[in-house]
Amino acid sequence: MPEGSIEVAVELDMSLGESPVWSVARQTLYWADINKGHVYAWRPRDGGVPTRIELGEKVGCVALTDTGLVAAAASGIVRLPENGEPERLAANTEWQAGQGNRFNDGRCDAAGRLWVGTIATDESSPTAALYCLDKGELTQRVPGIGISNGLAFSPDRRWLYHTDSPTRRILRYPFDVDSGALGESETWVDLEALGLPGVPDGAAVDSEGCYWSALYDGGRVVRFSPEGELVAEHEVPCPHPTMVAFGGADLRTLYITTATQHLDAEGKARWPLAGSLLQMQTGVAGLAEPDFTG
Ligand code: BGC
Ligand code: CA
Repeated sequence: MPEGSIEVAVELDMSLGESPVWSVARQTLYWADINKGHVYAWRPRDGGVPTRIELGEKVGCVALTDTGLVAAAASGIVRLPENGEPERLAANTEWQAGQGNRFNDGRCDAAGRLWVGTIATDESSPTAALYCLDKGELTQRVPGIGISNGLAFSPDRRWLYHTDSPTRRILRYPFDVDSGALGESETWVDLEALGLPGVPDGAAVDSEGCYWSALYDGGRVVRFSPEGELVAEHEVPCPHPTMVAFGGADLRTLYITTATQHLDAEGKARWPLAGSLLQMQTGVAGLAEPDFTG
């Protein structure tokens, strides 16, 4: 596959593919279909079809553990060991018997905490928040959010990146990895000012410290330098890429999840790759994702 060209990795009909995460130890890519409550696992080296587990409720994101995964399902966070029963770690206090905000985007920091946000049921009112699960305690860290997305960390661990998607801005917070403390946020990227379409959705940081962001409803994946400058733009063959993850033996395959949830029949016919897992070779390598230990 030539560098920069996007092709199908796994043909799927996902409603809201999301949260790709690569395990170096297991050489496996995991991801979710949020709306269908599915969690996928796939070893590209073996090819074939991915395995799929059904959580029975929506699932916002997954992260790695040494024995499997941790998943932020709509109602709460569960440990999913590869062999063994699921174990509930924390409840989503915004969920309220299915009437409230579900969990959405999440990622582990280098100290093994899980950062995970929620999404307002109407996808706009500022009733959602960003949380951190650390040593068994789930704590609200940033309130007043519509759609929590785009969590990532700079390789030097000094910055936490985050977006409230509808604002079309990506913020960065000074981050102390030892204590988990966040400083004052600042606007780091403004899609409006850059004339970029769509909203910033999920992201991944590469080994040069650049931030790759999937522009939902913008039909592209963009790469920002550590200074927040737009340094590359890759068109995706569907309007709703949702998140990216580096994987493969050399961490130079960028996996891209996609959605069909906002496409009508005409849109689905026009964008047949929407809903599949896509991939692209990159000149730069990604970073290994830390395990959840908190
Ligand atoms: C959410 C979707 C939303 C999208 C764009 C995703 O993280 O799960 O429901 O439509 O972001 O903001
Ligand atoms: Ca997302």
